[in-house]
Amino acid sequence: MKDGTSNDPANLDLSPADMQAMGNLVVARSVAHLAALDVHPILGDYTDIEALCRAMREAAPEQGSTLDALLDPLFDEWIPRSFGTSYPGYMAYIPGGGVYPAALADFIADATNRYTGVWQAAPALVQLEANALDWLRDWMQFPATTCGLFTTGGSMAMFNAIACAREKLLGHDIRSGTLYVTSQTHHCIAKAAKLAGIAHDRVRVINVDADFRMRVDELERAIAADRAAGLKPFMVFSTAGTTNTGAVDPIEAVADIAAREQLWHHVDGAYGGFFHMVPELRPLLSGLSRADSLTLDPHKGMFMPYGTGALLVRDGEALRALHASSAGYLPDNQNEFYDPAQYGPELSRGFPGLRIWLTVKFFGAARYRAALAEKRALAVWAADEVAKIPGIVMDALPQLSLFAFHLESPALDTLAAQNAATRALMDRITARGQVMLTGAMVGERFLGRVCVLSFRTRREQMETCVRQLAEESAVLLVEAAGRK
Ligand SMILES: Cc1ncc(COP(=O)(O)O)c(C=O)c1O
Repeated sequence: MKDGTSNDPANLDLSPADMQAMGNLVVARSVAHLAALDVHPILGDYTDIEALCRAMREAAPEQGSTLDALLDPLFDEWIPRSFGTSYPGYMAYIPGGGVYPAALADFIADATNRYTGVWQAAPALVQLEANALDWLRDWMQFPATTCGLFTTGGSMAMFNAIACAREKLLGHDIRSGTLYVTSQTHHCIAKAAKLAGIAHDRVRVINVDADFRMRVDELERAIAADRAAGLKPFMVFSTAGTTNTGAVDPIEAVADIAAREQLWHHVDGAYGGFFHMVPELRPLLSGLSRADSLTLDPHKGMFMPYGTGALLVRDGEALRALHASSAGYLPDNQNEFYDPAQYGPELSRGFPGLRIWLTVKFFGAARYRAALAEKRALAVWAADEVAKIPGIVMDALPQLSLFAFHLESPALDTLAAQNAATRALMDRITARGQVMLTGAMVGERFLGRVCVLSFRTRREQMETCVRQLAEESAVLLVEAAGRK
């Protein structure tokens, strides 16, 4: 195979035959990797991983090499030594996706490299992105006034949402504004708030109830206390599926308070928002479509590759008012058509809409609904089975597709012992190689978690997960009893 060197060093273009051969090689390696996902353990070998990373440090090479030589260590050594996020048994954290059509869309976007920052530069391509945003809007039952933005993830969607709410409701009086989250809200929101000029001392953390959902009575009290102190409550977050336990906040009740108090209500649907696509699951997310803005993470619930987040803003003009700008060297801004740079902070950017457009057109929305409904059903089934395992105490049943639990027994009679055993349970399952689980500290307690959101997770992996949880729990309980 041709290498990256050339007799004409200033010419970086490649012949059609070389491009074809290189593409074939990459597709072949990628498909072989995906076809053999189950052959390797779900958590790659982390032995001496620091040494490996240190040894990898190198100066930029002066001369090129062959593509094969670059792909070999990538596929044979570096990709496998990671969390198996694309494996069917990946139920850790919030699983991501990686549907194949989206990878091809990225390839097309990068190979053709059209500029989609402004409408004028690629009108039909920008229209594809606008269509994809409209699909999200329709699935979430947001009104026609809505405008949106594809971002690299949920965190950046939150940042834009907070900046938008701040601009509309606080103007220049940023310091008096207060914003409300819960102890279970994703930490990226406090970070985004800081980036958007809302310091940590203006972020109020509301307690949650026994089901890890926002205590709306406390929210009301906190808003009243801030008003009494001369501050200006302006934004409240509810979460449609928290990361730790999958809790769905009382979105309707928060929406009512937000409407009464004239706060901007943002719903974090990064994990759970896409369940709203499935009509029979919509009641689980009741109130979501009343939000002023909504974060969605297509790299979670639409099974896209990492780097695909989205924001919807009900008052699309408010988003435009925040970002709209122009320059003498650019075409005039569009009014009829979507103009990405007018709705987000970036001018030059990739083409995120193509991933979603191509994949939804390829599979159709019906298959998405079927896959999402299946993930929820698998989680409900598994939670039922896991609840029967001796020693397991369920802390959170699946409100969507995530449940949480801990281990307890007469021998595991302290919080510290229960935490250690629950942590060991997660580690032992992961070490078996087929299913990866992670837990989370929630207050003083370590909770084990199962989150079903990988498009590759089917009944077979759920059965393995339940069986291994039963087997490893039994071993841990016997060990604990033996130590007493
Ligand atoms: C509920 C929730 N919100 C926000 C985020 C942050 O999203 P991202 O990692 O895409 O920036 C996550 C990430 O897991 C999440 O689970």
